[in-house]
Amino acid sequence: METKLATQVGRLRLRSPLLTASGTSGSADELAGLGGSQATVAALGAFVTKGVTLAPRQGNPEPRIIETRAGLLNSIGLQNKGVARFLSEDWPKLRQYKLPVIVNISANTVEEYGELAGRLVAGAPDIAGLEINVSCPNIKEGGVSFGVDPVAIEKIVRTVKRPAGRALIITKLTPNITDITVAAEAAIAGGTDALSMINTLRGVAIDLRTQRPYFANVAAGLSGPAVKPVGLCMVWDCFAKIPECRSRRVPIIGIGGISTWQDVIEYLLAGASAVQVGTAWFVYPDIFVEMKKGLERYLAGNRTTVRQLVGRAHRW
Ligand SMILES: Cc1cc2nc3c(=O)[nH]c(=O)nc-3n(C[C@H](O)[C@H](O)[C@H](O)COP(=O)(O)O)c2cc1C
Repeated sequence: METKLATQVGRLRLRSPLLTASGTSGSADELAGLGGSQATVAALGAFVTKGVTLAPRQGNPEPRIIETRAGLLNSIGLQNKGVARFLSEDWPKLRQYKLPVIVNISANTVEEYGELAGRLVAGAPDIAGLEINVSCPNIKEGGVSFGVDPVAIEKIVRTVKRPAGRALIITKLTPNITDITVAAEAAIAGGTDALSMINTLRGVAIDLRTQRPYFANVAAGLSGPAVKPVGLCMVWDCFAKIPECRSRRVPIIGIGGISTWQDVIEYLLAGASAVQVGTAWFVYPDIFVEMKKGLERYLAGNRTTVRQLVGRAHRW
């Protein structure tokens, strides 16, 4: 029986709107250690893996992470073991949780995105979804992020969709753009089933001791409470301005700074059908269990459901 927490992202029915955010919860081994808790797994609607690439990646040199006053700057550089080892080592373990698994994918060229999607779906036909991280640099075009180029976004989505079979296509958008609705519309034109937003914001830290940038790549990605109003604004804009989002034909997964159950409600009211939680999860290991309890209390107290809350703040 469906509970008040149930929601839907495209054809994917989820028992809870709470998802992990890519890169903040690893893959199979980390899920096994999710605070060691069955309750955490039970609070989740789906698990989103860390970014997978075709070849293994070492990631960026250290340091890779620093706290800011209200968040985190990271420059991990998509460290992962590559698709072959993901399929042979992580996938069999992930399947045991009986939780829908969404695999986050990254690539340097449009063709690589297509090849990666094809290999994942061939090796793991019951993958629930592919989340396309379009924040990667387009190596062919000299390193400019795909995520700011609507033509490239449309092409990537179309290329991933072809081999994706039953897997839901979610396009994860970057906030490092003037108008996120332009990128969202490009993803919709390419045939995306859903959108997720936001990835991290570009940010810099400088080391007073060395008097140099803290990270080797200078700019890193800002996440955590500081970015919540930005993520909320971008969800709001897409829901308000794009008819496919408003009708929920192309639902939105809200991400960015979500740290409490109240933050989850705000994102639902702004137009998100589900949310992902990243940085806050580093701080509070029981966060998903606590969020589930808070949501259940709020929904019961207000005689409502998650489905009914989606986009409600737009009524005025
Ligand atoms: C350490 C770290 C690693 C991340 N790795 C990825 C990744 O591999 N792919 C991706 O799409 N986003 C990645 N992200 C971005 C998060 O999924 C999320 O979009 C962002 O952190 C904002 O959410 P938050 O404020 O709840 O952390 C990463 C974030 C952090 C902090």
